[in-house]
Amino acid sequence: MIEFSRMWAMPNKNTFNIKPIRAFLLPYVRNAVETCDPFCGDSTIGKYRNDIQKSGMDSLEWMKQFKDGSMDIVLFDAPYSPRQLKECYNSMGQSLHDTKSSVWKNWKMEIARLVRPGGYALSFGWSSGGMGKQLGFDIEKILLVPHGGNHHDTICVAEKKN
Ligand SMILES: C[S@@+](CC[C@H](N)C(=O)[O-])C[C@H]1O[C@@H](n2cnc3c(N)ncnc32)[C@H](O)[C@@H]1O
Repeated sequence: MIEFSRMWAMPNKNTFNIKPIRAFLLPYVRNAVETCDPFCGDSTIGKYRNDIQKSGMDSLEWMKQFKDGSMDIVLFDAPYSPRQLKECYNSMGQSLHDTKSSVWKNWKMEIARLVRPGGYALSFGWSSGGMGKQLGFDIEKILLVPHGGNHHDTICVAEKKN
């Protein structure tokens, strides 16, 4: 059974400052010891954090320092589309990075490697795909956050690694 809910909130580029999204993820994080946020922006919720705009390091490389199954929780709040990713790199004056869909696939494979069995991946974006069954995850909870106007909903997915 997937627990499903929907709650309206104002949009905010700092995803984890959106009240229902914060309420969605905090119970998972509070019950965990090893938590990692490879796309943290300004958030300090994860214990281990990276953001390319702060460190200059792509999280695909950054995640390689952690052992297989070493995380209770990995937060996955990367840019939501190739266009957002391109805008991020352009704002840093770096236009040579890849923005193909394989970029998200590679990030997901690395996240799946880090989460221990029984741990969780918490994904945020415009799709409810999350990590997916092929990477060994089952969806436990979905929260839809509509923002009004022409904004896309933010879709939050909590998946447990089996
Ligand atoms: C949706 S925002 C994260 C917001 C954050 N969760 C919060 O609540 O403040 C996505 C972040 O991913 C970062 N980012 C984009 N490409 C990256 C990459 N290859 N490696 C690491 N961080 C990246 C961007 O700089 C941006 O801060």
